[in-house]
Amino acid sequence: MPTSKRRERTALLYDEDYDERSRIAERLFFAPMRAKLAVAAGPIRGRVVDLAVSTGKGLGLYRAQDCHVVGVDLSSRALGRAVERAKDLRVSFEPIVADVMRLPIADESVDCVVCQLGFCTFEDPLAVLREVRRVCRRDARVMLVEHVLPEHRLPRTLATLAADRAQREFGCDTMRDTLGMFAAEGFVTEFDASAVGGFMHSTILRPPPRDRSRPSRSDRASTSGSAA
Ligand SMILES: C[S@@+](CC[C@H](N)C(=O)[O-])C[C@H]1O[C@@H](n2cnc3c(N)ncnc32)[C@H](O)[C@@H]1O
Repeated sequence: MPTSKRRERTALLYDEDYDERSRIAERLFFAPMRAKLAVAAGPIRGRVVDLAVSTGKGLGLYRAQDCHVVGVDLSSRALGRAVERAKDLRVSFEPIVADVMRLPIADESVDCVVCQLGFCTFEDPLAVLREVRRVCRRDARVMLVEHVLPEHRLPRTLATLAADRAQREFGCDTMRDTLGMFAAEGFVTEFDASAVGGFMHSTILRPPPRDRSRPSRSDRASTSGSAA
């Protein structure tokens, strides 16, 4: 499927009733992992980018924190719900409709990048990871709540069986090795908690030192709608 069509389909999938459709998975799998991440994270300060923030179900992470959150997503309707959630939680929040594969954010301008249940849906997760590395300040943290293809046989079989349905209903790939991808790109794990036989992970990583030979993308940060 061409990229623009795929993006359109992803936005549509999340424009409507994502919260309702994911209610059971949220209670069983996601909420406990969000809670683990919040405890492990401790204070979160400065400028945060929340990738694929969607309706903002993960915004509780920033409750009573001294930070400003830029929430990026393809779905403007989902972002509308996130704005309401942020208000209720008193989180300083700025929504941006954009593709996380081309973040409208300046190089080395972010203290923390958060992504909860996003890497399973990105068309090119490696391109997003490279954007994460580009926008991170030197001492930034990267925080993830993700499901990955588990090593243990039974959860691995279940993830495989669920693959078609997850793809159809959420555009979500249950077969990804997201944490392996971060490790292969030089990110260092500071914290990792897993559950459901290694299917669910809450993880905190540090990006590798930036490669100065890579072209800067800060030019894009000055375009309209930018949060740079
Ligand atoms: C499973 S939801 C995750 C929602 C939220 N972070 C949470 O914790 O519940 C995935 C979100 O990724 C967004 N998404 C997928 N591909 C994207 C892309 N390339 N750029 C921006 N958002 C994207 C979808 O619109 C959707 O809102």
